[in-house]
Amino acid sequence: GSDSDAGSPGGADDTITMGFSQVGAESGWRTANTKSIRDAAEAAGVELRFSDAQQKQENQIKAIRSFIQQRVDVIAFSPVVETGWDAVLLEARRAGIPVILTDRAIDSDDTSLYETFLGSDFVEEGRKAGRWLVDNTEGPVRVVELQGTTGAAPAIDRKKGFEEVVAERSDIEIVATQSGDFTRAGGKEVMEAFLKSTPEIDAVYAHNDDMGLGAIEAIKAAGRQPGTDLTIITVDAVRDGMRALADGEINFIVECNPLLGDQLMDLARKVVNGEEVPKRVVTEETTFTPEEARAVLSEREY
Ligand code: AHR
Repeated sequence: GSDSDAGSPGGADDTITMGFSQVGAESGWRTANTKSIRDAAEAAGVELRFSDAQQKQENQIKAIRSFIQQRVDVIAFSPVVETGWDAVLLEARRAGIPVILTDRAIDSDDTSLYETFLGSDFVEEGRKAGRWLVDNTEGPVRVVELQGTTGAAPAIDRKKGFEEVVAERSDIEIVATQSGDFTRAGGKEVMEAFLKSTPEIDAVYAHNDDMGLGAIEAIKAAGRQPGTDLTIITVDAVRDGMRALADGEINFIVECNPLLGDQLMDLARKVVNGEEVPKRVVTEETTFTPEEARAVLSEREY
């Protein structure tokens, strides 16, 4: 099941009612994202009906159908995977309920199924990770890749951007790649298997901090030193990742900003009021080296 905050049907007064379907609670990033959305809804006076899909598309589809039945003013969601949304989004459109995509995109030919998409450029994040590896290592570099959830936009795009840039160097090779589902346990399990199956590993590219942190546990258990014996690159920059970076166990982190709540509430108000909104709003983000992590760690919000 999912956890839903119950309430009366939306649209009765000028309070905006938003149905929000979250992916799950798979990572530190997701926890920070959920908090940002809850806090921003409260600050903006938006009545939030929140549903946690526990990383299952079928739960998200059920939640969206339930929001349609409740006649919320706007539906926002972070799609767990890219494909398979057209039917339910058509139902929302027929009911006259606008939809906002947040964090992750869908793959559909019909872009009129949603009003706007607020979130990161995941291909660019993958490129930044690849660029650092190209510029800061000497060959041969045998990389193992811990992918995010299979079929999810950040997993597809971070892989693509990284591969595009490391192709510049023939002495960088991705020797193994597998999904760790964006979780710490998944990262640990896949890394344990890689350490057994793949004789030479020089670097780990993890699509998020949590999987990177799981991999670090596996590497230490195998008697090797993360950050020194193996180069570790991750994406997100949540506090636990930044701490490991500051401690030298991760070498480089590409930031993915989870604090989307205020922008989401702002876009929702505009959409409900029939104002124009840009079709795409890209989140601003940076990257961190160990020195940079040490400088900002104490004031990191999440
Ligand atoms: O969609 C954003 C990704 O999802 C984050 O990088 C990851 O940590 C999360 O689970």
